[in-house]
This record gives sequence, structure tokens and C-alpha cells, in this order.
Amino acid sequence: MIFSDAEKTAIVSLWAKASADVKALGAEALERLFLSYPQTKTYFNLSSGSQDLQVHGGKVLGAIGEATKHLDNLDTALSKLSDLHAYNLSVDPGNFGLLSHTIQVTLAAHFPDEFDATAQAAWDKFLAAISTVLTSKHR
Ligand code: HEM
Repeated sequence: MIFSDAEKTAIVSLWAKASADVKALGAEALERLFLSYPQTKTYFNLSSGSQDLQVHGGKVLGAIGEATKHLDNLDTALSKLSDLHAYNLSVDPGNFGLLSHTIQVTLAAHFPDEFDATAQAAWDKFLAAISTVLTSKHR
């Protein structure tokens, strides 16, 4: 997937804000995932408001933050996570769009000025690209 300079700027600049609070934002995205799409809870053993939820939320958003540094090479940067989600966890690919959505809702709720239509389009493309890599080894 190729990102324009404008898309890269929109992704990196919003991440500069979000990176200050990865655990809380990640946990909120997961809370929203579990509440809106309860079937996704079956993959986890994470209770609402728990420390474990914060830790896992931080890992997920942390990986996304790392990916913002490799926009020209997401395949390689996310290769190990792709193996994990396909071979070890067997996460149904349909779930990635759900999490991508709740991440965007979380960003929109916390950064309403920055998350304008341009930023949303760039982040939607970025999260779709991550999802493509993380589901590419499912067979
Ligand atoms: C944007 C997409 C996603 C990213 C960036 C992501 C990232 C991560 C990261 C960084 C880890 C921890 C890896 C480690 O500890 O080495 C992880 C684990 C995991 N992910 Fe994902 N993930 C994504 C989507 C999903 C989805 C959609 C599901 C299922 C609904 C899922 C289920 C899991 C599970 C079950 C684990 C293991 C949790 C545990 O340690 O008990 N992931 N993911």
C-alpha cells in the first residue's frame, strides 16, 4: 500500500498526540470493541476496566505506533505480528475491520480537532493496510 505525503503527515501528526496515552486509548478501543461486538471477547480473557486490559491496549496501540515509522514497509515491520495472529491465534479476519473502527472512534473522541475528514481517510487506509498484513498469512 502506498501512502501520499499528505496521508503520511496526517497519520504521523495524529500519532504524535496519541502516543502520550497508549494504554488508556488502547484500552478504550478494546472496551468499545467488546461492547459493540461482543463476539470478539471470545479471543481474550480481559475484564472491563482491568489492568490487563490497559496493558493489552497499550501493546496494540504501541504496535500501531511502531507501524507509523514504517509506512513504506509495513509487510516487513509487522511480519512477526502477522505470524502470531494467523498461526498462533487464528483470529478471524473479519474482526480486524471492527477493531480498526473502534480505534478510529477512540481517536475521534479524544482528538476531535485533529481527527478531521482528511485524518480519518488517512487513518482508515493505514489501519486497513495493517489489517491486510496481519491477515495475509491466514490459510
Ligand atoms: C490493528 C490490528 C491489531 C494489532 C496492531 C494487534 C496487535 C497485537 C499485539 C502487539 C499483540 C501482543 C503480541 C505479543 O505479546 O507479542 C497482540 C496479541 C493478541 N491479539 Fe492482536 N492486534 C490486532 C488485531 C487483533 C484482533 C482484531 C484480534 C481479535 C479480535 C486480536 C487478538 C489478539 C489476541 C487474542 C492476542 C493475544 C493476547 C494475549 O496475550 O493473551 N488482535 N495483538
